Amino acid sequence: MGDPEYTAEPRPDCDLCPRLVAFRDDNQQKYPDWFNGAVPSFAPAGGSAQTELLIVGLAPGLQGANKTGRPFTGDWAGDLLYATLLKFGLAQGTYAAMPDDGLELNGAMITNAVRCVPPQNKPIGAEMKNCRPFLKARIDSLPNLKVIVCLGRIAHENTLSALGLRRAEYKFVHCAEHLLSLDARKLTLIDSYHCSRYNTNTGRLTEEMFEDVFRLATSRIGA
Ligand code: URA
Repeated sequence: MGDPEYTAEPRPDCDLCPRLVAFRDDNQQKYPDWFNGAVPSFAPAGGSAQTELLIVGLAPGLQGANKTGRPFTGDWAGDLLYATLLKFGLAQGTYAAMPDDGLELNGAMITNAVRCVPPQNKPIGAEMKNCRPFLKARIDSLPNLKVIVCLGRIAHENTLSALGLRRAEYKFVHCAEHLLSLDARKLTLIDSYHCSRYNTNTGRLTEEMFEDVFRLATSRIGA
């Protein structure tokens, strides 16, 4: 304890959520070569101190981050997310859907509100609550953080709760910018619809709408 990296990242075999542990055990049997653990945040090449932008997703996808061990890597959602980060200079290299593709983040970190893959992609309330201290510690461990981009309502709500803020005061609206009322630091939260297959296929989220979010975010960090 006392080490921010320890509290910000659960052990891969974290056992706080019985349903998620049972699902992990099941997946370990079926897919022994997969990562199958609490997926750590993807940090920028310069480490935590270089992070000015934190992207908060929902939870690892079964055949994406849960398989590869890196957030959004191998997921449908990752194709759009990483293409957009590359476009805005928040990443460099080539995204090839594998953790050893050499892609590096630039001033940005990617984490998830829930670090273990949930059945049907849907974490339950108790699981979000169990995982919240890791999100809080992750945010607290970033001294130069300026902007948090929340991908989807669940990320938005869990980020507010992790920071001890009232959800009723910050309405989730795509591309909305919220100045968070925190005593100790100045942080801006920007909302986005999640870049999921469902949202992009139905047209709820277009590439342009997603780019609007990162255009706004990079303008706020001065990138
Ligand atoms: N993969 C992740 O790591 N997080 C998401 O929210 C979706 C896919």
